[in-house]
Amino acid sequence: MTNTLIVGNWKMNNAVPESLMLVAGLEAHIKQSPNVDVVVAPTFTSLYSVGIAIADSGIKLAAQDIFWEEKGAYTGEISGTFLKDVGCEYVIIGHSERRKYFGEINETVNKKIYAALRNALIPIVCVGETLAEREGGKTFDVLEKQVKSAVAGFQPKDFEHFAVAYEPVWAIGTGKNATEEQIEESHKFIRNMLAKLYDAPTANNIQLLYGGSVKASNCKDIYKQPNVNGLLVGGASLDAKGFADIVAQAPGQK
Ligand code: 13P
Repeated sequence: MTNTLIVGNWKMNNAVPESLMLVAGLEAHIKQSPNVDVVVAPTFTSLYSVGIAIADSGIKLAAQDIFWEEKGAYTGEISGTFLKDVGCEYVIIGHSERRKYFGEINETVNKKIYAALRNALIPIVCVGETLAEREGGKTFDVLEKQVKSAVAGFQPKDFEHFAVAYEPVWAIGTGKNATEEQIEESHKFIRNMLAKLYDAPTANNIQLLYGGSVKASNCKDIYKQPNVNGLLVGGASLDAKGFADIVAQAPGQK
């Protein structure tokens, strides 16, 4: 049985003052439940202040990226040690925007997952096909390659706290979410693949999230899908009431 996990990915939005206003709004509107984990992922520069602001709220902190080394001459990078230091418990890895704009590839995703686990950070590993890949009938091939190379070299014990987010690239920020059938089909495919690579209990323990144009008005049917354990929300997580409404509709454990 896993908790429902709902993550707000703020992307490159909100300087410190706006970040603090948003978490104040979330604290006011979100009702905590023991079976639902609520996580926010602000920009690197807001992590420290947001971490302090949410310390007693039950809301948890995620970073949007991590570098695979711990320290040294890597200008502009942030390590797991530093993320832990400011209170992060989760880290988003391999988001399609990082793959598209910043040269993230499956091999670097794998190295970043190692770095997250080494620092006891829970990875939220993003996978998903582009529109051309879907239309070319390549969705499952893409997901298989992304997931297999992401988890290469890991043992079942590494998946005790682990999330995979299925985010079809064509559904991100477009207002066009995937249908419930498309979501469940892809989640089931990922779950079965992980069960084959490891074993069923390991696969069932991994939280499979859906992301892509999720909002309060469409989340209910997505939650209902048997292999959906939570959501990765972009745009709709920037509005406290809207995000709280998504959290309020979450089922307990699955
Ligand atoms: P939107 O919810 O804005 O489509 O973004 C999804 C996403 O990329 C979350 O990581």
